[in-house]
Amino acid sequence: MRFVSTEKLLHNAQANGYAVGAFNVFNMESLQAVAQVAEEEKAPVIIMCEQRDIGFAGINYLYHLALAALADATVPIALHLDHGKDPDVVKQGIHTGFSSVMIDGSSMPFEDNIRLTREIVKMAHAQGVTVEAELGHVGGAGAEGINDDSVYTNPLLAAEFVQRTGVDSLAVAIGTAHGVYVEVPKLDFERLEEISQGVAIPLVLHGGSGTPDDDLQRAISLGICKINVGTDIRMQFMAAFVESKAAGAKDVRDALSPARAVMKEVIRDRIRVFGAAGRASGF
Ligand code: 13P
Repeated sequence: MRFVSTEKLLHNAQANGYAVGAFNVFNMESLQAVAQVAEEEKAPVIIMCEQRDIGFAGINYLYHLALAALADATVPIALHLDHGKDPDVVKQGIHTGFSSVMIDGSSMPFEDNIRLTREIVKMAHAQGVTVEAELGHVGGAGAEGINDDSVYTNPLLAAEFVQRTGVDSLAVAIGTAHGVYVEVPKLDFERLEEISQGVAIPLVLHGGSGTPDDDLQRAISLGICKINVGTDIRMQFMAAFVESKAAGAKDVRDALSPARAVMKEVIRDRIRVFGAAGRASGF
């Protein structure tokens, strides 16, 4: 079995009104958790490695762990490089065999983001790899600026960006943020609706952790086809590990097993909320 094209997953989600869960992984246990839950829930899934995961574990380790997950899988799995800010890391992802990459030029001026995204699209498409870009900027949940709409995606520019770059999916800034929220996010659904009307490609929501379920489901109904989740998985994993140790686990494996089990339940819950459970057939 091969990794499934991310584009295929996202178009299926777009056509059927759900979102594919995209989960940041950083080690064997997190990767197993994602793959096992996808199998149990009969859900398509995206395994995602961001630059920091790659810095921590190494791109070859993560790639080969994902291949091991694939060998046991009957559900469609895509492998995505998340938040590629350094074009060299993105190129590595393209040549290593990832299904898709994100080029994150969201902190750059509009024209520079277009230039960089176009360059990566050209290179990736030549290898059959699809590309996600970001317009507007999804910041950190703990930083000031949450609920500051000056960094949100401009719907008119979004349409122009997609048309000029040829990108395959677009991450939008509509009020979510990465990390642990210091205040409840307020999503700008009107803006999302306007973006959806002008942009035909699948839209992506970053900062899935801690965003209320009904907001996520409303965002899906307005065109979000992929939701990224990272913080919740890592935090619950660490909390469960520490708890097991405090409860008397003497062997590292006895603390890692419950940590992986807790992580699985976080992932399962997200997959169900996104409407992706039971959607694995037809690829
Ligand atoms: P969270 O860590 O807030 O879930 O965001 C993940 C993300 O958007 C990765 O791209």
